Amino acid sequence: MNQKFANDIQSGLSATQKSIPYIYFYNERGSWLFQQIMQLPEYYLTACEICILDTYKGKLLEYFQAKKKGFNLVDLGAGDASKTKILLQDYVEKGVPFTYTPVDLSTSILSALSESLDAAYPDLKHQAMNKEYWDAMEILKDNTPKSERKVVLFLGANIGNFTYEESVDFLTTLKSYLNPGDQVLIGFDLKKRPEIIYKAYLDSKGITAAFNLNLLHRINQELGGNFKPNYFRFYPYYNPQTGELRSHLVSQKDQTVTIDALNMEVKFEQWESIHTEISKKHTIKEIESLATAAGFTIKEHFLDNKAYFVDTLLEI
Ligand code: AVI
Repeated sequence: MNQKFANDIQSGLSATQKSIPYIYFYNERGSWLFQQIMQLPEYYLTACEICILDTYKGKLLEYFQAKKKGFNLVDLGAGDASKTKILLQDYVEKGVPFTYTPVDLSTSILSALSESLDAAYPDLKHQAMNKEYWDAMEILKDNTPKSERKVVLFLGANIGNFTYEESVDFLTTLKSYLNPGDQVLIGFDLKKRPEIIYKAYLDSKGITAAFNLNLLHRINQELGGNFKPNYFRFYPYYNPQTGELRSHLVSQKDQTVTIDALNMEVKFEQWESIHTEISKKHTIKEIESLATAAGFTIKEHFLDNKAYFVDTLLEI
């Protein structure tokens, strides 16, 4: 049994506002569902970021190479690196000297990625790290030569799953592993017409709902729970004032769920919710205040042609 999962579920479901941390979405089925989400036409985030990377790969390379001999592209939460491959393909074709370091917790995803990199780009220097972000950054801090720049990628609006304070903490911690001249490229989803944001989560095929309900299946499988997922309804809502899209699973009736491994009974009142995720939408002003609060300088904001999404390049 994963003890941290057990503890987090125990405390999350005992609180007055019940919650399940979003990190638990990503078991095997959840990761597969997330791949499906990224292909949904409503989930504009992926297509926008692909468009940004494709349009600005050359401009980004100029920044990555400025005043340094080479660079190490460190991809936090690389996954299948489908977006990063836009950069890799271009830089390999141009014969650019650099190293690619994908960091991910999933062993199977990383080994599939390494195989696909060897097959597609035999000349690419890459070193996968199957580690937590900060463990990987600690190792890289010491073994990257000073003449080489670290360029950390944190793509896909993953930062949107943090609160403002958590984002500042994340960037401040990240900075502590970097040297002057190192850079960070971060994907932020931007505020836009609320209906567009809402539809990206309440998708017509119900895949995002399945992604959320998978949390209940996971508790059943790993902790001996007896959740009936169809007694819950997925409900996302967007607050244009805070820019937060908050996801919930709402109990459709009074019910009691038991979780054997936790020796726990969880009572739900009808229409009570379990909060599962925050997907924050930003303004450029907020991004700038976040970067400044964490001690970074903004080099450039790279937006897609609809201004739905931005990849912001920071430097210390
Ligand atoms: C990974 N993260 C940025 C996604 C998001 O948009 O918050 C996860 C997701 N949740 C529902 N759809 C996609």
